[in-house]
Amino acid sequence: MSTTYKIAVLPGDGTGPEVVAEGLKVLDAATSKFGFKLEYTHFDFGGDRFLRTGEVLPDSAADELRQFDAIYLGAIGHPGVKPGILEKGILLRLRFELDQYINLRPVRLYPGVDTPLKDKGPEHIDYVVVRENTGGIYTGTGGISMKGTPHEVAVQSMVYNRFQVERCLRYAFEYTRKFGKKARGKGEANTLGLVGKTNVLTYVFDLWERTFHELGEKEFPDVKREYYHVDATCMWMVKSPEWFDVLVTGNMFGDIITDLGAITQGGMGIAAGGNINPEGVSMFEPIGGSAPKYTGMNIINPLAAICSGAMMLETLGEIKASQAIEEAVKDVTANKIKSLSAGKMGYSTTEVGDMVAERL
Ligand code: IPM
Ligand code: MN
Repeated sequence: MSTTYKIAVLPGDGTGPEVVAEGLKVLDAATSKFGFKLEYTHFDFGGDRFLRTGEVLPDSAADELRQFDAIYLGAIGHPGVKPGILEKGILLRLRFELDQYINLRPVRLYPGVDTPLKDKGPEHIDYVVVRENTGGIYTGTGGISMKGTPHEVAVQSMVYNRFQVERCLRYAFEYTRKFGKKARGKGEANTLGLVGKTNVLTYVFDLWERTFHELGEKEFPDVKREYYHVDATCMWMVKSPEWFDVLVTGNMFGDIITDLGAITQGGMGIAAGGNINPEGVSMFEPIGGSAPKYTGMNIINPLAAICSGAMMLETLGEIKASQAIEEAVKDVTANKIKSLSAGKMGYSTTEVGDMVAERL
């Protein structure tokens, strides 16, 4: 009997539904080839539902979603809704309530894809960022007092406890041991780099740095440890991305450096991410937004959504199917599409989905 995975599908806003449709097309092609089943349940969370009902996310959503093996998300963000409402009320709320404390974001340049980095190719841009996903400034305490007066005060604190830091680092060490450059036959060592700011944020990153070395020494002596300041990391992500293997960092720094990483791998048309709860249900998404101006035009690039589907299969344990999708995507970037940008691919959204599915 073949395994059946229950997948919650949240197509979301703008071009989300279009790219999700192509992702599902490719996932379906993988199921028939690799002998497992996916059972989809669609949810309409997003801007249209909010404008219709006045409710951003039902309180029961997290509990309902917990019943699934994984969540497949398109995009959240609607031009008719003030920025922040849907992002905080749906995306961030689900990350927090489902305790998806890892955001896994590979930075990988596929063959045939243009990078803005001079003289760099797929052999140079091939690393992974492990972003802490449920703490730091995103959930730290804060508030505003004396609003509207010249003495107004605004506070938003970067708060981390040892538990949050340790579980994120443990995941990163384990990931590095399994998927680092040595493990993949691409280097001499499996290296985990902590990205911080120990020269200024002397409390929070002191906690990160001490925990990093204590845990590494005790439980992961086989993983090589490096430390980089976040500002210098940005510089080297542009100048020498080949130095990096796996990077781990807090929520805010991770948010920022992964946009930089994404543009070096060809942009939002290809960058995929996973919001992972290693002990619970994880949610996979293309990291670009809903690109509302392209809605319904069949010109948006579905590859990021397709790659996030591949990440979902990897996390479910369907490693072969996941790798096959990635290979099919590489074949399409190397031999078919001209550009990753919407409208410039030389093919429509649905045609790109068809090509990946066929190559599987
Ligand atoms: C991301 C996004 C989100 C974040 C926003 C939309 C809340 O930028 O997934 O990186 O800041 O985490
Ligand atoms: Mn971001």
